[in-house]
Amino acid sequence: MAGRIPDRFLDELLTRVDIVDVIGQRLQLKKAGSNYHGLCPFHTEKTPSFTVAPTKQFYHCFGCGAHGTAIRFLMEYDGMGFRDAVETLARQVGLEIPEEARGPAQDSHKGLYEVLSKAQQAYQHWLRKHPERRRAVDYLKGRGLSGEIAARFAIGFAPPGWDNILRRLKPESALAEAGLIIRKDNGRAYDRFRDRIMFPIRDRRGRTVGFGGRVLGDGEPKYLNSPDTPVFHKGRELYGLFECLQVERHPSELLVVEGYMDVVALAQFGFPRAVATLGTATTTAQVEALFQVTSDVVFCFDGDEAGRRAAWRALENALPAMRDGRQVRFLFLPEGEDPDSLVRSRGAEAFRETLGEARALSDFFFDHLREGVDIHTMDGRARLVDAAAPALRKLPSGIFRTLMVDRLAELARVDSDEIEAILTGKQEARRKHQEWLTEATGKPVVSRTPVRLAVALLLQRPSLAGMVTDTNWLRTAELPGVDLLIELVELIHAKPHISTSAILERFADDPHEAALWKLATWEHLVPESGLEEEFSGALGRIGQLLAEKRLQYLNDRLQQGELTPEEVREWQELKTRPQRPIH
Ligand code: UTP
Ligand code: MN
Repeated sequence: MAGRIPDRFLDELLTRVDIVDVIGQRLQLKKAGSNYHGLCPFHTEKTPSFTVAPTKQFYHCFGCGAHGTAIRFLMEYDGMGFRDAVETLARQVGLEIPEEARGPAQDSHKGLYEVLSKAQQAYQHWLRKHPERRRAVDYLKGRGLSGEIAARFAIGFAPPGWDNILRRLKPESALAEAGLIIRKDNGRAYDRFRDRIMFPIRDRRGRTVGFGGRVLGDGEPKYLNSPDTPVFHKGRELYGLFECLQVERHPSELLVVEGYMDVVALAQFGFPRAVATLGTATTTAQVEALFQVTSDVVFCFDGDEAGRRAAWRALENALPAMRDGRQVRFLFLPEGEDPDSLVRSRGAEAFRETLGEARALSDFFFDHLREGVDIHTMDGRARLVDAAAPALRKLPSGIFRTLMVDRLAELARVDSDEIEAILTGKQEARRKHQEWLTEATGKPVVSRTPVRLAVALLLQRPSLAGMVTDTNWLRTAELPGVDLLIELVELIHAKPHISTSAILERFADDPHEAALWKLATWEHLVPESGLEEEFSGALGRIGQLLAEKRLQYLNDRLQQGELTPEEVREWQELKTRPQRPIH
């Protein structure tokens, strides 16, 4: 395994990178005051609420709440993993990931990627050059595929025989690890894919990570897939996604179909927006990957019983990804048809029209649950709520979840609050409601306390922490958020030149992360100039709050006649000078 990337490297990286460049290369940004504005790529909107702040080096959308540093942007927008995002940015500013963070894991994968890429080229070569290629070419032609489409999908041919790949590529260990050959107990090895049309499966970066192979004609099994390997996880990859994104980076919708041939045939006949799962149910990770490039995902299934079951499984796995602005729909095809046969007989235009018939996730959800329960009886309605609850609990908070809860409430003829209480327990319900209010109004509901203001100011200008020479007095303050303030001050004391974005990156996955982001965007509460005065004022008010609390405590004890002489002196001083600045 590669080592963890050290914080100091991330700090350095984030001070060198300019987030305006990074985002500006991908979106259109306009300067407005000290910030840049644009249309948010993470939800659909007509007026720009997406803001990029050059001084703080982060982006924030006041519409959907998306936010992050340059690293997070690449992860969300380009669909990269954390490490890939860091590497990409590092390359741009000429930094190298430190030795200890590189590790051997990547080197060993290098061999795998290499052998997979060479295998793909070999299969393509055999489709053009092998003596038995005729049957393969005729088969593809028979299914209406052109050479151009075959090339776009890098389709190949695994010739008959037990050792074509085995003899052509080395080393054997890599071939075995990549799933291209099968090793028997006696040590003998043979090709996994024989006499098949080969569909390479490529990851988001276009690297071949596995294969699906279809028999020519009627053999069994009809499709043979690569096994999972260190670089190929069936639950994560989607066949055809790379190819779709080559055509357009942000398709207005993406269709999830069941078969390799469906994807290829749709592209052939003019609909290059389909991907396929690899013989397994759609996972949440796959749905998330799709939502990184489109806001409309349409699942396409057979209209039969098996298709409906598969659709329900896909729905359950899509629920955790249903953040606001994302849409999932379901299209059920007529019996006996698949997308390949439909587009072939009716053409792309007609196929696009049938897409309009796809049903919203919410409709499919409630129709499916209502089957077999009689909602005209109390018992039936109770059972409906019971059946819906586990699924609704998977939904992230937001408008969509609220709408689903309201609809369930309406069907079950109870209050939405009651459904909320069932889903979350009372306290949870209140918290969610607050979050919803925040999202709906676009303003944090948290009040402007001096502690929060101090944190917001520090995020605006970290060097202000230099004004706090001693954090001990803060520790005695039992005020909400004060532990975060202390943590922040101490971090900046240890790293005086740390940037806002580096601070935010350090708090990724920290319990304070959400609070920090909220405060980082409190621009409207932070003045343009005079930050020092504002900060010292906030500290002063914290001190005042502390003093008031202390005075209250001493007063209580005084009533009971329990003060020591020292406490009496303190009491007198506090009484006369309650505004003493303590920092
Ligand atoms: P289908 O049997 O519906 O095949 O399998 P298809 O896509 O219509 O294929 P054609 O049109 O006959 O060529 C759908 C998907 O299920 C997986 C494959 O991913 C396939 O694309 N599958 C099917 C297998 O993995 N193995 C099989 O033996 C069959
Ligand atoms: Mn088919």
